[in-house]
Amino acid sequence: MTATVKELEKLYFDGTKHAVYQNIPAFVQNALGYSVEINETWRGDTARYHNLLQNLNLDQISVLGDIGANTGFFSLSLAHRFPHLKVFAYEGNNNHHRFISQIIKMFGLKNIEVKNLFVDMKGLEDLPQHDCLLNYNVLHHAGVDFDRDLVSFDSYTGYAVEYLKKLSKKATYMIFQMGFNWGGNKARPLVPVDYDAVKVLFMGKIFQQSNWEIDRIFTVRHTGEFEYFKIDASIIRKLNIKPSDARGDLVDYYSKYDISSFSEFYRRPLFYCRSRDKSGYAE
Ligand SMILES: C[S@@+](CC[C@H](N)C(=O)[O-])C[C@H]1O[C@@H](n2cnc3c(N)ncnc32)[C@H](O)[C@@H]1O
Repeated sequence: MTATVKELEKLYFDGTKHAVYQNIPAFVQNALGYSVEINETWRGDTARYHNLLQNLNLDQISVLGDIGANTGFFSLSLAHRFPHLKVFAYEGNNNHHRFISQIIKMFGLKNIEVKNLFVDMKGLEDLPQHDCLLNYNVLHHAGVDFDRDLVSFDSYTGYAVEYLKKLSKKATYMIFQMGFNWGGNKARPLVPVDYDAVKVLFMGKIFQQSNWEIDRIFTVRHTGEFEYFKIDASIIRKLNIKPSDARGDLVDYYSKYDISSFSEFYRRPLFYCRSRDKSGYAE
């Protein structure tokens, strides 16, 4: 038996920390006439989804995973749109896992599986291989949502290096975004909100130590709507060799685009990375 919209609503609005976060995928909205209003001036999926569709190299990707799939906006939308993809959605919240699972059943989607688990340090050893992993806005919740015994505010960087290093063995490509307040708590900034260049450097150092090469980075601008733009390739080159050498260029880059009025969410860059482990680089 398939779920009703009422049942879907109950699973979606479950009152938990990450509830009412994502849009309902367009194909679900169109078929069921069911949508949820998300205030995208503060945080949204639309600009990220456009960025993903423009930059995901589908010729190189057959197996895609979504860590922290939430209510499946990305994993369901991609599985529905690209039937040749095999999609794995990983979501620790059981209600949201069930939400995705009900939609899979309702629409008879054969190319997506949803797993109710937290991809933590131990669990990621059991992950299958992916061509590409979406890793959006999960890692800053380490120590709060998962791996509580493994990471504290002070040990965050070392933990992130170790976690991403293990992940580099599980995917060729990773598209990464994170918040810079630990566990989403403004009183615990890993990087202060106004230090946009430092956020990129912070991640540049972590990627370098964890076996990921940065391919592209996007930051948002408001052009009537939020839209992501690519950071200069010369900056990426420096970040991949010696991140601290990119500091001046990053400060210049950000000084040209005033994003100080944007929400903390829209000040989180998008990183497209390639695993050095998978591409024959020495570790
Ligand atoms: C801040 S939301 C981000 C959702 C989505 N990735 C996005 O950016 O739109 C974090 C989501 O990841 C889930 N989550 C947190 N840690 C996780 C982990 N280690 N493995 C799987 N899911 C996780 C949470 O339950 C929540 O749904």
